[in-house]
Amino acid sequence: MKRVLSGIKPSGELNIGGFGGALNPFVAMQEEYECYFFIPDLHAVTVSQDPRELFQRSKDIAAFYLAAGIDPRKAVIFIQSQVAAHAELGWLMETQAHVGELNRMTQFKEKSDGREAVSSALFTYPALMAADILLYQATHVPVGDDQKQHLELTRDLAERFNNRFGPTFAMPEPIIQTIGSRIMGLDDPAKKMSKSNPNVSSYVLMLDSPETIRKKFARAVTDSEMSVRYDWELKPAVSNLIEIYAVFSGEPIETIERRYEGQGYGGFKKDLAEVVIEKLIPIQQRYHEIVHSEELTRVLKEGAARAAEVASETLVKAKKAMGFVTFE
Ligand code: TYM
Repeated sequence: MKRVLSGIKPSGELNIGGFGGALNPFVAMQEEYECYFFIPDLHAVTVSQDPRELFQRSKDIAAFYLAAGIDPRKAVIFIQSQVAAHAELGWLMETQAHVGELNRMTQFKEKSDGREAVSSALFTYPALMAADILLYQATHVPVGDDQKQHLELTRDLAERFNNRFGPTFAMPEPIIQTIGSRIMGLDDPAKKMSKSNPNVSSYVLMLDSPETIRKKFARAVTDSEMSVRYDWELKPAVSNLIEIYAVFSGEPIETIERRYEGQGYGGFKKDLAEVVIEKLIPIQQRYHEIVHSEELTRVLKEGAARAAEVASETLVKAKKAMGFVTFE
């Protein structure tokens, strides 16, 4: 059985990077895999969150899942903090993770760099992420490129646990899209597109208006060569734009290159904005219909109940293997 688990943190407004690396592949995968898509709110609070914003953003991500086309009859959609097994297995995985390996996580280094009050949860974050995945015996985990290291650690922890306590967890494989798993900033192709960039023109938000999207792409950096060619080494800024075009149009890179052969960047950037707008408008409309609906609450309630069943089975298995007294 092929089972998928993945999620998007409710820690900021969703940008099109999360769409390329996660949301878009999620929608495609529900046809082929048994899918669990969750909202990792326990991960969001590893850095300070305003309670009202956390509440709204958790619902936002759930609404984006549905609006983008995830079907709750096919996939289980739930909020992490509503399934207590995550926190519990997270603790057990912390007992397996070594300080040295957590210290090597580049996301921890980036997020803690220069900060004074870094929470201990930010440090142990990857052990909780391993628990998320292992609880569902996930065989495949679609993620963007920046999560690769966390997936490698998850595999190490699963293997360590299985070797020490007997076969308990399935070994998960990351699924990293060749196109869309590394969407970079529109101002600097060396930096991941991220809401934490103070330059608002560096990212496009899922809820940006058409005018804003047009402005942001018009300002996007390119190069002085004036040819729409996909070459990350020599033309990273243009390659990033071509990749965004490919994600949002669903067309192969070569088709896009051919279409703009011999043309400059002006027309290409204008068309790119329209391709993104065309895909986002219906998602935005559905998002607004769903975000405050009863239907969303119902989907999340049912999802949490279905997730809890699967998760508690694995949790009991892991606890028994470790020698805890259980009555099940
Ligand atoms: P998060 O919330 O930062 O991002 C959600 C997903 O979107 C991908 N992503 C991107 N992909 C391409 N280009 C970008 N600019 C971009 N920005 C974000 C991320 O790689 C990710 O796949 N730790 C995870 C959340 C998590 C999780 C899990 C994921 C917690 N537990 C278990 C999978 C399985 C995170 O912070 O992703």
